[in-house]
Amino acid sequence: MTDTRKTGLARNAANYGDRDFALYLRRSFAKSMGYSQAMLDRPVVGIVDTGSAYNNCHRTVPELIEAVKRGVLAAGGLPMPFPTVSLCEPSLFPTSMHYRNLAALDTEAMLSAQPMDAAVLVGGCDKTVPAQLMAAASADIPAVQLVTGPMLATPYQGERLSACTDCRRYWAQYRAGAVSEARIGEIEGRLATTAGTCGVMGTASTMACLAEALGMMPLGHGSIPAVHADRLRAAEEAGTLAMRLIAAPVRPSAVITEAAVENALRVLLALSGSTNALIHLTAIAGRRGIRVDLDRLNALSDTTPVLVDLKPTGDGYMEDFHAAGGMPALLWELRDLLRLDARDVTGTTLGSRLAAPAFVERRYIRPIADPVSPVGGLVAVFGSLAPRGAILKRSAASPALFETETRAIVFDGLADLAARIDDPALDVTPDDILVLKNAGPLTPAGMPEAGYLPIPQKLARAGVKDMVRISDCRMSGTAFGTIVLHVVPEAAAGGPLGLVRSGDRIRLSVRDRRLDLLVGEDVLAERRAAWRPPARPARGWDRIVAEQVLQADEGCDLAVLRAGG
Ligand code: FES
Repeated sequence: MTDTRKTGLARNAANYGDRDFALYLRRSFAKSMGYSQAMLDRPVVGIVDTGSAYNNCHRTVPELIEAVKRGVLAAGGLPMPFPTVSLCEPSLFPTSMHYRNLAALDTEAMLSAQPMDAAVLVGGCDKTVPAQLMAAASADIPAVQLVTGPMLATPYQGERLSACTDCRRYWAQYRAGAVSEARIGEIEGRLATTAGTCGVMGTASTMACLAEALGMMPLGHGSIPAVHADRLRAAEEAGTLAMRLIAAPVRPSAVITEAAVENALRVLLALSGSTNALIHLTAIAGRRGIRVDLDRLNALSDTTPVLVDLKPTGDGYMEDFHAAGGMPALLWELRDLLRLDARDVTGTTLGSRLAAPAFVERRYIRPIADPVSPVGGLVAVFGSLAPRGAILKRSAASPALFETETRAIVFDGLADLAARIDDPALDVTPDDILVLKNAGPLTPAGMPEAGYLPIPQKLARAGVKDMVRISDCRMSGTAFGTIVLHVVPEAAAGGPLGLVRSGDRIRLSVRDRRLDLLVGEDVLAERRAAWRPPARPARGWDRIVAEQVLQADEGCDLAVLRAGG
């Protein structure tokens, strides 16, 4: 029995040396699941299922998948959900970032190996959407991104609470002694009270918006709250759209172009979005051979105003952004700065998809003539401490600290930080710069969100709210402070950060885009001669990461997974 199709379940026949036998076997096993021949003859839409008991942000994935299936079935297709690695930010040791590339690798392999004509990617929590977009960019099969959507904020004693900016705000007050043990315990149960991803413009929300800006998700879908009925309609529409992509294929390679990546960068800046999103966007672009250049980021940042006023830098929550008009309203406001020729998964240009919104809530999405800030949220700095660059979220920082030359207090890794930061005997003043080294992507720490070093307790209790902090790791998209991140090369790669010692002087100048270590070359040469690279893990994923992971300016992807390997 010969099946001459190259589509549906006849794609990617297993390699028995006899294609007809391979497909015969596949059909007979598929029939064990109760499908009729008519269903098995349909075009196939694979649905990436990241539901997991470990992933609270993906609690609604089962019902989303049912809605996607509805869309696929109604359009004449066969929906085939399949599980992949699911990453939940607070559930993973050492950090979810350590496993983003594993999820990308898993997803790419399953998209490429299993028989499907198009795919719907169901993501949500921070690392899942980047991993899925990286995978789709490499597998290059027609794909639509769907997200679980943000949680709702919870009214609490005259204010609203949501993960995770408010978690950090209250925790900082607790550390400073301003919030009691009983109250911090009560707030713990009020910070995340519905299904969905963190309710502020953190990494998950930023990546959902960037998926729209890249054209991999229909406009307006990223910010729909997780518990809103529209979220299920968006899922159904994703299934329908995937079916349309089978009839008229638009591959990620036609969507994730230089123009689309530049649009996404503009949106990231206008959102005052998460610093993590810059790493993820760099990795996604890298899968298509597109480089995100930090000098270009600075040029875009100087010409892109911040228009969205959400926590952690502003006031609102994602539900406010959505009700205010969401991405369609933001993109309309930014239209003169965008590459309108970029095409999305429907094959239409951004220019033809934009329309003047009927209503915009200006409290949360400002007009370009009256921005939150006239310049973008992120800026790259370079210098002798960060030869290939480092990132500062200036919109979340204290301008009074932008021009700083002072003494460094250095912590060598997370254990040293934990052991000494709250030591009453620590020699530290509010004017010092706190430095954390050996926490980058090459270390066993796996580049955690530890760049938001806590203010030493004795200073926090004295009312100090911000200090310059520098590291080779990341910070949560929900955090704030004058925090210089992603120093490249990292300390473990032999970068100058690894040579810094307590008492050295460091100069940060946001105006000049500089970050310099003010130590003589002769002294540094001596320290460099004594430096030794960290030992490599013995085996497994940790070993693969240690051998393959790239630096932050290359998206922290694995070298073998980028375009061209
Ligand atoms: Fe999943 Fe914040 S923990 S989005």
